[in-house]
Amino acid sequence: MLVSIPQVLSPDEVGQFRTYLDKADWQDGTSTAGSIARHVKKNQQLDDTKEPAMSLGNHILRVLSQNPIFVSAALPDKIYPPKFNCYCEAQTYGAHIDGSLMQIPGTKQTLRTDLSATLFLSDPDEYDGGELSIETQYGTQTVKLPAGDMVLYPSTSLHQVSPVTRGVRMASFFWLQSMVKDAQQRQILFELDRSVQQLAAELGEAHQEVVNLSGTYHNLIRQWATPS
Ligand code: NI
Repeated sequence: MLVSIPQVLSPDEVGQFRTYLDKADWQDGTSTAGSIARHVKKNQQLDDTKEPAMSLGNHILRVLSQNPIFVSAALPDKIYPPKFNCYCEAQTYGAHIDGSLMQIPGTKQTLRTDLSATLFLSDPDEYDGGELSIETQYGTQTVKLPAGDMVLYPSTSLHQVSPVTRGVRMASFFWLQSMVKDAQQRQILFELDRSVQQLAAELGEAHQEVVNLSGTYHNLIRQWATPS
């Protein structure tokens, strides 16, 4: 399941991010790729142990914790501090699958990558190419979202960023471990929660069937969630 989340960052916030990112010290991204990915990765990244990556990453985590679609779709347990990348002309990241286990920087904690996220920080008209293509069970899906929007996709998916042929594509990306490891269970919970929220808006939160369905949602969470 791919989930697009609109306006994770407002246009004002994107503008502030870009003020920092446009003058940031971008580094060759090959240095942080694994031995296999190194052959297909041609982009630039920010040093995420330094500013502005740390402050901007923390800002993203703060707004996501308040985003109902993100919380419902991801049921996040542990989130990797957001990273930032930049693709200039001819830069690309060929087909790969993200690593399965990652150590959270500055801690001894390991995170299992259940979901991958890309938060777009350049508008589609600022660059050509640079689409994120994700292999799903229903075929390849191509994603190129407005600046401030984010896509969540299963980390088990083969994916790539096609070559940028004009302009610059900036994005933030990160991984998370979900409290619900199974992607199908996570999808059922997400769809149920969206319907409960919609019914609550139409019928009122006190409506007996809304209360019952909300109870069912929480009882399924109790069955399936394994918080660390
Ligand atoms: Ni990737």
